[in-house]
Amino acid sequence: MQTTNAKVHYHDFVVQATPVKRLCKTHNTITVNGMYPGPTLEVNNGDTLVVNVVNRARYNVTIHWHGIRQMRTGWADGPEFVTQCPIRPGKSYTYRFTIEGQEGTLWWHAHSSWLRATVYGALIIHPKEGDSYPFTTPNRETALLLGEWWDANPIDVVRQATRTGAAPNVSDAYTINGQPGDLYNCSTKDTVIVPVDSGETNLLRVVNSALNQQLFFKVANHKLTVVGADASYVKPFTTSVLMLGPGQTTDVLITADQPPARYYIAGQAYASGQGAPFDNTTTTAILEYKSAPCPAKGATIKPVMPAMPAFNDTATATAFTTSFRSPRQVPLPTEIDHNLLFTVGLGLINCPPGASSSTCQGPNGTRFAASMNNESFVLPSNFSLLQAHQQGIPGVFTTDFPANPPLTFDYTGNVSRSLWQPIKGTKLYKLKYGETVQLVLQGTSIFTAENHPIHLHGYDFYILAEGFGNFDPSRDTTKFNLVDPPQRNTASVPVGGWTVIRFVADNPGVWLMHCHLDAHITWGLAMAFLVENGLGELQKIEPPPADLPLC
Ligand code: C2O
Repeated sequence: MQTTNAKVHYHDFVVQATPVKRLCKTHNTITVNGMYPGPTLEVNNGDTLVVNVVNRARYNVTIHWHGIRQMRTGWADGPEFVTQCPIRPGKSYTYRFTIEGQEGTLWWHAHSSWLRATVYGALIIHPKEGDSYPFTTPNRETALLLGEWWDANPIDVVRQATRTGAAPNVSDAYTINGQPGDLYNCSTKDTVIVPVDSGETNLLRVVNSALNQQLFFKVANHKLTVVGADASYVKPFTTSVLMLGPGQTTDVLITADQPPARYYIAGQAYASGQGAPFDNTTTTAILEYKSAPCPAKGATIKPVMPAMPAFNDTATATAFTTSFRSPRQVPLPTEIDHNLLFTVGLGLINCPPGASSSTCQGPNGTRFAASMNNESFVLPSNFSLLQAHQQGIPGVFTTDFPANPPLTFDYTGNVSRSLWQPIKGTKLYKLKYGETVQLVLQGTSIFTAENHPIHLHGYDFYILAEGFGNFDPSRDTTKFNLVDPPQRNTASVPVGGWTVIRFVADNPGVWLMHCHLDAHITWGLAMAFLVENGLGELQKIEPPPADLPLC
């Protein structure tokens, strides 16, 4: 449904190794067009994007448009071996899709191995031309992408973890728009400056593009008014701190109402897994008043640093994630066709008989794993799931992903070791076009309980409630927000708790759902929904593009 002034935007993305110097050392970093982070795409709701991706790197690559619904264009979604085979070195693929009814901040990233550590960028969707924001028009807008940097090749980091079965090394820095900032070695002169004029209001589009870490975000001495998340508007609320899981975006208004000076914008870990190692460093940018008196402007006077929450401050994280509401009553599905309960969590796989102990360096000579409903997801390697579905190729996947955990147990209690070992497989859950789904995402305390940012491709869902402990339908359904629940594409499942989401299966295709901590997806914390075509022409996935990469 093109309106008359909808535009088509053409872009070329050349994926290539580029020298990037951070933390005193230069790495041959995989980038798009030599930029880290990559180019920002800006479009209006209703526009079409055509992005020709050329792979000049030595790795397979795909690009995912995180949060774009891809109505009937699942072939452009991007997850490797799910909706396409990878773009091989030297090859290319053109992603084409239209933005339908989404406004706000999304982002794009590589969806192949750990390449998204450096291959990512902002995707900003403005209202249709002539439409305005449902809040006071800001004087400026700034995208702030929070990232994670290894003083190593991230592909080597994941390869080593996959070889040994141990946890991957934690990162060496967090970044804001690619820069670690003042608190790291050799980083001060490149610290990102966000200029403001006294009295003006700036729209900050904050994205957690980090690979493996939920992050707290603050600006010293300034309040933040949240107006959107994951390209959906929210009922505005004011807070001094944000918490974003990888994949999530939060749009906030900030008014320059403090004495003209320099204030740190800071990002730091929210690490909920007890005893699990994490990168405990702090990234900073600087909010700089243009009218700041001269002495304060030079590098001599230190900017004001915000007091950050403790790394394990779950109370602050929860207060934030439970503050979200949609701006008004939403068309929530009420008749539920599929009532699902999926456990999400870690696991340990016993060392296979005869395997070298060097490959079982996880806890007590095991290999780390992760699962949903005890199924540790394995990607195919010879066909994409979507292609196998469309062409009826047998043997690539089965559609018996369980609607409930195979065993009922005290998910968040002291789980018996006999329940720690998941099963590897490629199981999908089938939905007919238009069916309604309620899904309880239940965290487990297997190995360790921790917060999981769960992302569903191809959909926005409503978050009805979250809580701690085991979900109890008789007690917890009374907590559901059935009026104005927030709409998102990535839900935060609390540490040792649960989150309930609902959506209507109105977009045919194969849609990956996974933990957006790349360490966890590597271990299998994923599954996929197979949504069948409906009968109407607008209820069917389009035919695959002629240049779709095959395996
Ligand atoms: Cu942001 Cu499956 O990805």
